[in-house]
Amino acid sequence: MNPRIAAAAEAFGTPAYVYDLDGLRARVAWLHRLFDGRLQVSYAVKANPNGAVLAALSGHVTTLDVSSIGEVERALRAGWSAADLTFSGPAKRDFELRRAVEVGVGELVCESVEELDALQALGRPVSVLLRVNPLRMPKGFGAKMSGASQFGIDEEAVDAVIDALREGRWPLLTLVGIHVYSGSNSLDPDAIAENFSIFADIYRHCAERWGRPLHRLILGSGFGIPYRDGVEPLDVEAVAERVRPVLDGILAHPLLAEASCTLEMGRWLVGPVGWFVVKVLRVKHSRGTDLAICDGGMNNHLAACGLMGMVVRRNYPMGKVRGADEPIGTYTLVGPLCTTIDTLAVKVELGALAPGDLVAVGSSGAYGLTSSPTAFISHPAPREVALEGGGHRDITEVG
Ligand SMILES: Cc1ncc(COP(=O)(O)O)c(C=O)c1O
Repeated sequence: MNPRIAAAAEAFGTPAYVYDLDGLRARVAWLHRLFDGRLQVSYAVKANPNGAVLAALSGHVTTLDVSSIGEVERALRAGWSAADLTFSGPAKRDFELRRAVEVGVGELVCESVEELDALQALGRPVSVLLRVNPLRMPKGFGAKMSGASQFGIDEEAVDAVIDALREGRWPLLTLVGIHVYSGSNSLDPDAIAENFSIFADIYRHCAERWGRPLHRLILGSGFGIPYRDGVEPLDVEAVAERVRPVLDGILAHPLLAEASCTLEMGRWLVGPVGWFVVKVLRVKHSRGTDLAICDGGMNNHLAACGLMGMVVRRNYPMGKVRGADEPIGTYTLVGPLCTTIDTLAVKVELGALAPGDLVAVGSSGAYGLTSSPTAFISHPAPREVALEGGGHRDITEVG
């Protein structure tokens, strides 16, 4: 286990999330190298909205994808310019649309005809992308947003929307591009490349229907990360090899030649560079099971308890932070809540645990704190700590 994680958690107390911000930027740089300048990167704030994470990405990713006015405000506080934000999501409220337009959010990603009507009613010029819900999607994604879905305009309905835009139904809205995000958390390079080919067909079709150039094409990445030991990370080199020709094919279309292609993603960037660290409070033997009762659990990390879209509950990768690393005990790790679903790990092999020991749960940088019921049991919010430039600092925002 990285000794810097131990030092960070010991400096500020537990439970704590620790994020390696240098590691985060290194992952962005890796993507840029692999795609050879053909792709820009956009970070989906929902994955981890901590202001230090957003600030660390400034100058490294091109845009932030936000899904609420709260995320817009966070991005602005972190030093981002409103012009560099794209606002997606199917449930934008009228006051959020109004505020987004007032502060100058760069592009609105429209997910329905009603949203186009609501934007037009604001009475100001707005640049919009249409989010398209594809008819087809390959297997191999952990989460699927296609089918009958609240996300985007159905592919079979998009021609009518483009025609209405062209005919001036929404005169204040300028169509600048197309957004597609149909699946998330894939570890299969072939599935990702096939999905991007489907996106490419949609972009070409929409451009032809529009009859004018489109400037912005957003590809919802779907890049996944391993959530348990023994699973290989996504082979991004294999992804890049398969996707480069798809991108070249998009740019070869005369109406898309000037388009910027943007990979929109959250978990692949920030997930692997985040750890959730808990302290063991008690070790208890109950009916054949060794239980380690920890100072944080489901209230801080719902996903690691298997409660966020995991079909079969499996343990996240984890390790004892200091001391014996050899697996010499089998423990069930539970948190402080009054429910047995507050279980961070079932029968995980770890170095022998005693009160005061720390355990770090990996793959926790995305959809960790932000997706957790922190109010449950009224504990203070966990610490959030950044590792950066050889040091560490407290970046806790709430509590
Ligand atoms: C529109 C949109 N963009 C980006 C993301 C980020 O997905 P991921 O964190 O899996 O990369 C999501 C996830 O739900 C999304 O809905």
